[in-house]
Amino acid sequence: MKQLFKLLAVSLLFLNNGLSVVGSDEVSVSVMEGDTVTLIYAETNKQEDIKWYFNYTQIAEIIGNHTKIYTDKQGEERFGNRLKVNQTGSLTITNITNTDSGLYKLQINSSIENIFNVTVNDVPAAELHEIKRKSVKKGQSVTLDPDILKNPNDTIKWYFNDILIAEITGDQSKICTDIQCKQRFRDRLKLDHQTGSLTITKTRTTDSGDYKLQIISSRFSIVRNFGITATIDVSGLSAGAIAGIIVACVVLNAVCSGFSALLFQRY
Ligand SMILES: *[C@@H]1O[C@H](CO)[C@@H](O)[C@H](O)[C@H]1NC(C)=O
Ligand SMILES: *[C@@H]1O[C@H](CO)[C@@H](O)[C@H](O)[C@H]1NC(C)=O
Ligand SMILES: *[C@@H]1O[C@H](CO)[C@@H](O)[C@H](O)[C@H]1NC(C)=O
Ligand SMILES: *[C@@H]1O[C@H](CO)[C@@H](O)[C@H](O)[C@H]1NC(C)=O
Ligand SMILES: *[C@@H]1O[C@H](CO)[C@@H](O)[C@H](O)[C@H]1NC(C)=O
Ligand SMILES: *[C@@H]1O[C@H](CO)[C@@H](O)[C@H](O)[C@H]1NC(C)=O
Ligand SMILES: *[C@@H]1O[C@H](CO)[C@@H](O)[C@H](O)[C@H]1NC(C)=O
Repeated sequence: MKQLFKLLAVSLLFLNNGLSVVGSDEVSVSVMEGDTVTLIYAETNKQEDIKWYFNYTQIAEIIGNHTKIYTDKQGEERFGNRLKVNQTGSLTITNITNTDSGLYKLQINSSIENIFNVTVNDVPAAELHEIKRKSVKKGQSVTLDPDILKNPNDTIKWYFNDILIAEITGDQSKICTDIQCKQRFRDRLKLDHQTGSLTITKTRTTDSGDYKLQIISSRFSIVRNFGITATIDVSGLSAGAIAGIIVACVVLNAVCSGFSALLFQRY
């Protein structure tokens, strides 16, 4: 039943995700709680006056080289210091929450140029935790799943502690082009071109850490954080293996009596 519910939730997520253009200038952006989202103003010509609205409240303005975030009482409470704009007019919302869902409108010279319909998916906290925090026993495989319906034009990037480890652009994928990545993961990374999911095989305890997914389209970029904890499974040594060690120790008595004593101490 739980499985069925999960399947349902995930397929709903799929329906909602990715990019679709409604009318000429409405972009749908579907994200998960905790994501960092950048809404990109694609125009390259420098504009004189750019304003951002959330629903009907102005939240930011860029005049020439000056950027301003509106921290009226309501805005301050809603976004805290989670909003940023850059000089090109792109708006970044960090650690997005459910109440940030709505229409983000970009206005230039007093006409609305772009509308981003941002939907923060309502995934139960426990499920979100299950998607984003993975525990794995050393030696086993673990998969991080973007949980998005991937648009073939999007670029997908995976980072481990801020080192780029895998990338999909169009029909090309790259794994571990970085030297640090090669040293750490060798041939243990797999990328699913269809879903964008990243699998780490034969995990080591040193694979534990922060992983970051970045989805980049021409109109927005999404950053989602994941975590992996790889643990040593002390109960994993089979009875056979222990018996084997003991037999070997009996044969080579002198060498490993110390080791078997240690072994008995621990189990
Ligand atoms: C704005 O910044 C650009 C480069 O960052 C600079 O070339 C330009 O002179 C600046 N304009 C003003 C009005 O300060
Ligand atoms: C503003 O942000 C967008 C999206 O991240 C980026 O493409 C652009 O280069 C940035 N512009 C500046 C001036 O930093
Ligand atoms: C993100 O926001 C939630 C509350 O909505 C908060 O509990 C959490 O600490 C925040 N995380 C970060 C990294 O700021
Ligand atoms: C913003 O608008 C959307 C729909 O247009 C609505 O669902 C949401 O509750 C609004 N949010 C706020 C904070 O007004
Ligand atoms: C806005 O106005 C400035 C000058 O006032 C002009 O250079 C710019 O092209 C205008 N932008 C749009 C999108 O109309
Ligand atoms: C925004 O997107 C949501 C979910 O996709 C949809 O239900 C809603 O009608 C859209 N709102 C507008 C104003 O297009
Ligand atoms: C991908 O980009 C091309 C060229 O910009 C466009 O024609 C095509 O419709 C896009 N595909 C999707 C699925 O958005």
